[in-house]
Amino acid sequence: MKIVVIGGTGLIGSKLVNKLRDQGHDAVAAAPNTGVNTLTGEGLAEVLKGASVVVDVSNSPSWEDAAVLNFFETSTRNLLTYEAAAGVGHHVALSVVGTERMLESGYFRAKIAQENLIKASSIPHSIVRATQFYEFFQGIADFSTDGNNVRLPHVLFQPMAADDVASGMARVAVGPPVNGIVEIAGPEKFCLDEFIRQGLVAPSDPREVVADAHARYYGIEVKERTLIPEDDAKLGKIRFEDWLTQTAAQIPGARAGAALSEEKESREKAS
Ligand SMILES: NC(=O)c1ccc[n+]([C@@H]2O[C@H](COP(=O)([O-])OP(=O)(O)OC[C@H]3O[C@@H](n4cnc5c(N)ncnc54)[C@H](OP(=O)(O)O)[C@@H]3O)[C@@H](O)[C@H]2O)c1
Repeated sequence: MKIVVIGGTGLIGSKLVNKLRDQGHDAVAAAPNTGVNTLTGEGLAEVLKGASVVVDVSNSPSWEDAAVLNFFETSTRNLLTYEAAAGVGHHVALSVVGTERMLESGYFRAKIAQENLIKASSIPHSIVRATQFYEFFQGIADFSTDGNNVRLPHVLFQPMAADDVASGMARVAVGPPVNGIVEIAGPEKFCLDEFIRQGLVAPSDPREVVADAHARYYGIEVKERTLIPEDDAKLGKIRFEDWLTQTAAQIPGARAGAALSEEKESREKAS
């Protein structure tokens, strides 16, 4: 199948393109630097020729309220229009678990607008809502840093590895359209503060993670279950501890994985 991956050069997109190619599909990475711009329509008609499926894993370069809304509305409208003209049979998009519970944020208002345009279109579709990616644990910590403390609410959190997100997207992309939402999530439930504390075990990171009932998540008020999926979510395989160990070398300024490996080794020796 020819499958066009919009945002195919990004974190999820590049992994997804590789997975689909490994399965024998003709996966095409589409992004501004491959000559496809969903905001202007440039290159869309050409890249969609002969495509059966379009997977949209693009993201807005700016998260400012008006810019992000314009990105998801304009690019989704353009995509759906060009897909209808090209006879694409399945539009798959990546969204976020709990989007409708976080509308206080302009980013999530933009994601809901994207979802609504897809639902209202005539093209068969699947909206995949994923939980937060392990890859952004440093970003969450940095956003919530207050002096030497990282202040986070003690709410449930079920993040996942980008690699598992890409596998989930690949599975949906080659299957029949669900014409609705499917949720994917990580294999373990944490509390948000515990997850970040585990990520920051690197001896070089002096910050202390504090559970604070008044703290917000990226400026959003969240409740105990705001960030977690329903019970029927499809779960990934990669555990956070294993991901930390494998990616330690790639985490700038953190040796979390190495520290965890040492800790694990000494636990194993002791038992
Ligand atoms: N962060 C999370 O925890 C989380 C959780 C669930 C879902 N998501 C969703 O996951 C999706 C992908 O995230 P990501 O982190 O993989 O994104 P990313 O690494 O920032 O990649 C974004 C991609 O979009 C492309 N792009 C930007 N502007 C474009 C345009 N005008 N036309 C076509 N392509 C364009 C980029 O191309 P260039 O590099 O050439 O600009 C890049 O390939 C997002 O929709 C996000 O809402 C995120």
